[in-house]
Amino acid sequence: MDRFHIHGPSRLVGTVAASGAKNAALPALAATLLADEPVVLRRVPKVRDIATMRRLLGYLGVDSHDRDGAVRLIPGHDGASFEAMYDMVKTMRASVLVLGALLGRRRRARVSLPGGCAIGVRPIDQHLKGLDALGAQIKLEHGYVMAETKRLCGARFRFDVQTVTGTENLLMAAALADGETVLDNCAREPEVVDLADLLNAMGARIEGAGEETIRIEGVDQLGGAEHEIIGDRIEGGTYLVAAAMTGGDVTLTGAAPADLGPLLETLAAIGADISAGEAGIRVRRNGPLRAHDVVTAPHPGFPTDLQAQYLALMTQAEGASRITETIFENRFQHVAELLRMGADIQIEGREAVVRGPRPLSGANVMATDLRASACLVVAGVAATGETVVDRIYHLDRGYEGMELKLQALGARVERVAGP
Ligand code: EPZ
Repeated sequence: MDRFHIHGPSRLVGTVAASGAKNAALPALAATLLADEPVVLRRVPKVRDIATMRRLLGYLGVDSHDRDGAVRLIPGHDGASFEAMYDMVKTMRASVLVLGALLGRRRRARVSLPGGCAIGVRPIDQHLKGLDALGAQIKLEHGYVMAETKRLCGARFRFDVQTVTGTENLLMAAALADGETVLDNCAREPEVVDLADLLNAMGARIEGAGEETIRIEGVDQLGGAEHEIIGDRIEGGTYLVAAAMTGGDVTLTGAAPADLGPLLETLAAIGADISAGEAGIRVRRNGPLRAHDVVTAPHPGFPTDLQAQYLALMTQAEGASRITETIFENRFQHVAELLRMGADIQIEGREAVVRGPRPLSGANVMATDLRASACLVVAGVAATGETVVDRIYHLDRGYEGMELKLQALGARVERVAGP
C-alpha cells in the first residue's frame, strides 16, 4: 500500500489545473449504456473509481478506448450482460449508477446492493422508490436488486431526500421511458446538470436540471455524442483550501467559480483574498484566519466532500468554529488523526468544535476514506516535520496525480510504494 511522505511546512504558490470531475464522469460513463452509437467523453480523470466503472461497463458490453486524450465508448447491447456483480459494486458504490440506464435501455438489471460505507449507511431506497414509480418490477434477493420492465412509463415522483446519484439514476431511466416524467426535490449539484447536458446531446429531452424540479420527455432511442466533463470542484476546492491553510497564493484553472460558490464565500468570510477571472480562481492568504461555522448541505449549500479539508483549515483559525455534518452520519474519522497532529477538536454528535490556531506537528496518520485522506495530506503540508499518510489508495480513487500537483505548488511530498 502506497504512502505519502510529506515534509512541512510549505507555503503553496502557483497555478494548478483541475481535472475532470470524478462525480460527473461516473454517471456520464454509465449513461453510455443508454446509447445506440459511440459516445466520446473528454476530460475523464485518470483515477481508480473511473477505472472500476470502465471495467464494469466492459462486463456490460460497453468497450472503451483511450484516444487523443478522450475516452471513446462503444455500446454493445445484444446478448450483453445486465448484471453488476457484488465483487465490482463492493469496491465502488457508484456502480449503482448502471441500474437506471440498464432498466431504461435493456429493460432489466441485476445489481448488487452497495452495502455500508465508511462514512455512513447510505441506503438506495430513493433510487428504488423512483424506479418503482416508473413502473419497474423490483425484487431484492440474495443481496441483489432484480429489476425488470416491458418499458418504463413516465410519472411524477418526489424524492424524500435530495440524492445526487438517485437523481442521476432516475434521469437515465426516464430518458427512454414512455411519456413525461417529473422529478421533484431533486439534487441540484453541477454534476447532475453535466449528466443532463450529455443526455440531451445524445437526444434526450430534459429540462430543469440544476433546479429542484426536472422534466424529462421520454424518447424511443438515444444516439452518440461528444461531451467534455466539467472541472472537479471538490478536487479544485481541496487545493484552494490548502492555499489558505499554508498562507499561500494559488490560482485554480479549469473549474467554474459558480460551482465553487459556497467554498469561495466561506474562504472570503474567514479572511482569505479571493478573485475569479479569465486566469482562474485565485486564493491568497497572508493574515490571520478567522474561525467560521459551516453546516454541510446539498448544493448550493457547503459540500460535505469539502468538510474534512475545511475542518483541517479551521485548526489554523483564531477562535472556535463549529462544523456540522448533516449529510453523512459518520464523516469525522479524520478528526482522530488530526488530534494526533496536535489539533484541538471536540466532537459532539454531528458537530465538531475546532479551536485554533494550533500549530500542527508531522505524524504518522491513516486515511479512512477519500476526502479524509485529502484532509490529512493538506494538514501534512502545513504541519512542521514529517507526516506519513498511510493507505492513500483511498486518495487515488478521486485525486489525479495529487503529489505531482502539490509538488508543482512547492510542497515536499513524495509517494512511497508500500509492501
Ligand atoms: C454523491 O453520493 C457523491 N458521490 C458523494 O461523493 C457525495 O458525498 C454525495 O453525493 C453528497 O454530495 C458520487 O456522486 C459518485 P446522496 P450519493 O445520495 O449520491 C441519503 C466523494 O467523496 N440517501 O446524495 O451516494 C444518504 O444516506 C463521494 O466523491 C437516502 O437516505 O449521496 C445521505 O445521507 C462521497 N436514500 C443523503 O441522502 C437514498 O436512496 C445524500 O446522499 C439515497 C440517499
